[in-house]
Amino acid sequence: MEISLFPSNRPRRLRCSPSFRRLMRETLLTPADLIYPLFVVHGENIREEISSMPGNFHWSVDRLLAEAKEIARLGIPAVILFGLPAEKDPIGQENFDPEGVVQQAIRAIKDAVPDLFVITDVCMCEYTNHGHCGIIHDQPAYCKGKGLPGGCLDNDATLEILSRVALSHAEAGVDMVAPSDMMDGRVGAIRAALDEADYHCVGIMSYAAKYASAFYGPFREAADSPPQFGDRSGYQMDPHNAREALREVAMDVAEGADVVMIKPALAYLDIVRQVRDRFDLPVAAYNVSGEYSMVKAAVQRGWLDEQRIAMEWLTSIKRAGADMIITYWAKDVARWLDA
Ligand code: PBG
Repeated sequence: MEISLFPSNRPRRLRCSPSFRRLMRETLLTPADLIYPLFVVHGENIREEISSMPGNFHWSVDRLLAEAKEIARLGIPAVILFGLPAEKDPIGQENFDPEGVVQQAIRAIKDAVPDLFVITDVCMCEYTNHGHCGIIHDQPAYCKGKGLPGGCLDNDATLEILSRVALSHAEAGVDMVAPSDMMDGRVGAIRAALDEADYHCVGIMSYAAKYASAFYGPFREAADSPPQFGDRSGYQMDPHNAREALREVAMDVAEGADVVMIKPALAYLDIVRQVRDRFDLPVAAYNVSGEYSMVKAAVQRGWLDEQRIAMEWLTSIKRAGADMIITYWAKDVARWLDA
């Protein structure tokens, strides 16, 4: 890079007034970049604040409609749905039930606000009584001694369940499914299942590089999904690794992912940047619950300015290379930008 030196070059010239600074901006955050997560529960007339994530709620399907309209009105193009089932069991039956809470929510939203793009999280942990993201084998021998402390995760059997879940969401009218389980081969399995049933237009946003992160803490209260034994480090990625993320992304791209996601966002901006530089697909980043809630807690103590922090962080995720961001601040951002 050729650089001319002071005093002929004065970088501060580009910062001399508010309007000029606006003109000079390299990265812009807009509501069109954002995806808003929604947590759906059974019952009627429920809008209950999630205590670990102030400003976010558990919604019953009937109350979701007004919320979906408001989200669309704010210019946010998409939502991602998470469901809390009526009952949990070893394989999570409600996950692929046509009358499951997520399936009902998809139909209701697509009916009332057809233009709002509906994405669904596809995973098992909210639906299983053991809280893991796959089928747990009762015969630990299956894993040849390399299983979880309390059982053994059956990767390939899980692919069948995930495909059934994705298909049931497609039948309900979903626009895109987002597998977040980190099983090997799930993108290919889901793509094949969708294509087999002629759902060629239902896309896949894969949680391609999803790390075993402590930043998911508040979400596990929101989705009631903590593992009942062991942890997720046998399938989610080790935070020490970056090259491995590129291999995970490459596999998902080869298997047919339409969008690849990095999660969490803020402690992994280096991964966002490397994926952006190496792949041409749209890149999403998930600004996760812990990243949101820790700011909320500091704001409650008067230590941080929520709007400035959120805007600075979300802008940095875009600057790192994300095309879209899943964030619990989506509605706030749309309002702040409109003000
Ligand atoms: C389901 C899932 C999780 C999140 C999104 N999908 C939890 C986890 O993997 O433990 C976390 C989202 C957040 O923290 O905001 N597997």
